[in-house]
Amino acid sequence: MRLLFRVVQQARRGTLLKTVGNFSTVSDVSGVHRDHGGKGDASTWLCGSSSHIEESVRNFVDVQVDFINEEEEGAFLKELDLSLKKKKYEFDHWDDAIHGFRETERVQWGAVCGAVIGRLRAHAFPQDDRLLGPVHVLDLDKAGYIKPHVDSVKFCGNTIAGISLLSDSIMRLVHVDEKTHWVDLLLPRRSLYVLRDEARYKFTHEILKDAESVFGGKHIPRHRRISIICRNLPE
Ligand code: OGA
Ligand code: MN
Repeated sequence: MRLLFRVVQQARRGTLLKTVGNFSTVSDVSGVHRDHGGKGDASTWLCGSSSHIEESVRNFVDVQVDFINEEEEGAFLKELDLSLKKKKYEFDHWDDAIHGFRETERVQWGAVCGAVIGRLRAHAFPQDDRLLGPVHVLDLDKAGYIKPHVDSVKFCGNTIAGISLLSDSIMRLVHVDEKTHWVDLLLPRRSLYVLRDEARYKFTHEILKDAESVFGGKHIPRHRRISIICRNLPE
């Protein structure tokens, strides 16, 4: 398991979790479209550069608000506290995809967290999918953020699903070829997000730093954030 984890980590630092240039222009794009209606109530968490791009990305993303309750969030924090606290947040590597983070992985969970992981997997992945065994736990410092990247296609399959603990955040997806095509996902604390297919391959994803964390004109404070991420294996 240790080895597998290292392979995934290397993949992220290397070619697979591809960091993509300077995205400052994206936040300057005017004419932000707010979605009112469409499938479900995505208008509360989906906001993009046009209604067209929102509708097309909508088919490949899902956000489930309140996927876990406060007790379940507390159980994760308690289970992870010791292994996270042993590590220091890493800020130094400017070329890394992630700034201000520490991370771990876990295969075995206690009853409460294990049940949540089971629920996440049942929700996000078809039953016959081969899943990456270890769950990836990423702890972002308040000053930390995730730069635009695409997860390794060599080590991870078509679906990425994550639960956010401790803080709301904004996940931005930017089309890899058309940089003016983007959507922001509001990921509330205790929500689940799922990125699959086009959203996973054709768009970079990133988690905005506090100073840029704005959704629908409102600042969404970015505190320390821990994500619990499950992935499937490539076919
Ligand atoms: C990653 C990543 C997103 C998150 O670790 O590759 O994009 O929700 N994480 O933390
Ligand atoms: Mn990623």
